Amino acid sequence: MRSHYCGEIRSEHIDSDVWVCGWVQSRRDHGGVIFLDVRDREGIVQVVFDPDNQSAFEIAEELRGEFVIRAAGTVRHRGSDQVNPNLPTGEVEVLAATVEILNRSRAIPFKLDEYSTAGEDIRLRYRYLDLRRPEMQEHFRIRSMIAGETRSFLAQEGFMEIETPTLTKSTPEGARDYLVPSRTQPGQFYALPQSPQLFKQMLMMSGFDRYYQIARCYRDEDLRRDRQPEFSQIDIEASFVNEADIMKITEEMLGQVFESAINVRLDQFPVLTHSEALSRYGSDKPDLRNPLKLIEIGDLVRDVEFRVFAVPASDENGRVAALRAPLGAKRLSRKQIDDLVDFVADFGAKGLAYIKANNVEEGMDGLQSSILKFLDEATILAIIERCEIEDDDLLFIGAGESQVVNNFMGALRLKIGQEFGLLQEGYQACWVVNWPMFERAERDEFVPAHHPFTQPNCSREEFINAPLSAKAHAYDVVINGIELGGGSLRIHDAQMQRAVFDALGIGQEASVKFGFLLDALEYGCPPHGGIALGLDRLAMIMTGSESIRDVIAFPKTQTASCLLSMAPSEVDVAQLRDLRLRIQGAK
Ligand code: AMO
Repeated sequence: MRSHYCGEIRSEHIDSDVWVCGWVQSRRDHGGVIFLDVRDREGIVQVVFDPDNQSAFEIAEELRGEFVIRAAGTVRHRGSDQVNPNLPTGEVEVLAATVEILNRSRAIPFKLDEYSTAGEDIRLRYRYLDLRRPEMQEHFRIRSMIAGETRSFLAQEGFMEIETPTLTKSTPEGARDYLVPSRTQPGQFYALPQSPQLFKQMLMMSGFDRYYQIARCYRDEDLRRDRQPEFSQIDIEASFVNEADIMKITEEMLGQVFESAINVRLDQFPVLTHSEALSRYGSDKPDLRNPLKLIEIGDLVRDVEFRVFAVPASDENGRVAALRAPLGAKRLSRKQIDDLVDFVADFGAKGLAYIKANNVEEGMDGLQSSILKFLDEATILAIIERCEIEDDDLLFIGAGESQVVNNFMGALRLKIGQEFGLLQEGYQACWVVNWPMFERAERDEFVPAHHPFTQPNCSREEFINAPLSAKAHAYDVVINGIELGGGSLRIHDAQMQRAVFDALGIGQEASVKFGFLLDALEYGCPPHGGIALGLDRLAMIMTGSESIRDVIAFPKTQTASCLLSMAPSEVDVAQLRDLRLRIQGAK
């Protein structure tokens, strides 16, 4: 139907006859001449209708926004005063010979160039309109390149693409499962996979050696700006590898993907241990674009009379950490500081101490703070020196249970970094390694920091003796403060796997649920390991999108509904009957 995409037409096409198809972006009547902006996937071209060509002109007069047309004409140079340097096709226009309306459009509910003022709900309800916007088209072009480059890189490295089931059994990745009832086995359910974890391990046991898949995963969990209930992982597994091998492959793959898709060269990824990340940044996914660091001062305040500091400083689960806000005393008003105190309270802080440094050379006299009276001079000066405080800086101090201090001081670090404009441009990736096997969840329960198939970094005896202090052969890759991926070496020994299930208190349950894994481990399982990267998160990072929803064609809302199709929805009673299900409370 067409000879060129609208967005492809350039000066080299001048005097050629072209056919273009697309949507009417806008129509302007100027002194009896009609100018149309016609848009397709590749961009916009101006099509001009001269009244001399009466039949085409009459049709052009009828055209409205989002009508679908096919126009034929000759490419010519725009008048020099009409050249639009902001448009790739801005030097040329098509003088229409004929035009055909392929389809009409009702008045659209939001202007496609005013998306930012249209609420997200309306954009999602009319997603097919929202996706016509050039910005969204660009996101999906980049997303498609990411997937394509990933496939070509991994194929070149000898990885085989193998699909795994999506009607399966629960795989524990820490979220709730989406369940699918079985009709043929009433009362039985499949789970949609939270990840292909166990199947990819089975593929290593099957001798495939190097596997990958761009896999759909499903997790019923609280949604955030970087989480969706269904998402895609670049899922990788390899046999006879160590941590360094997987990290190298991942780094090279990301290097190729960034360079090909967005022409960015990534630096080598620094490697931080999990405890370094928490200590310096208060986060296991540190944003290294932010130069601010948390500074440990527990040792300086262990023996002071001020119990707010002394108690956590002497407790092995406590922490006292400081954050220097450069020129904060000048940049932040009293009201803004109070707002920051409220801000950290949302992250569990019981309070936030701060010291204003008016003049460091004047010692105590140059400082201003409500906590000065609780601390002796030597301690205060030691804190000032350790934190390298300069005139007009503001020093925040957080004290309490380590996990809580990390949460709120980590959040404060991000907020100050952002609000003071301290973040470096570009992409800063890093590895976080040497994770603990287990992390404390709510109510003092322990859960795997990754998943229960992760190889402890110690012998089975050592693990059994002190499971909570065991470290794991696990690694996460983080870009700009977003956890992009996580992986580990896996347990390839049935005894060790049983020990980990026992430590989690699921020994009995696991032999039923994961009996097939425990069996398979007894039939010559190679040492293996892998990683999974969130494809949607990668696309979000690489397109600079604020939300993961902007890189998923048909995403779900915060309450996991699709506003376009209105899923989830009720089903027929007959369907429920087939499945032998009854909705509680329904007749
Ligand atoms: P993990 O649970 O860390 O590891 O997931 C890997 C990556 O998947 C992405 N991700 C998500 N993306 C969007 N929405 C979600 N709800 C969501 N949940 C996770 C993240 C995350 O880093 N089987 C292991 C991997 C392995 O050990 O090889 C796993 O799934 O980017």
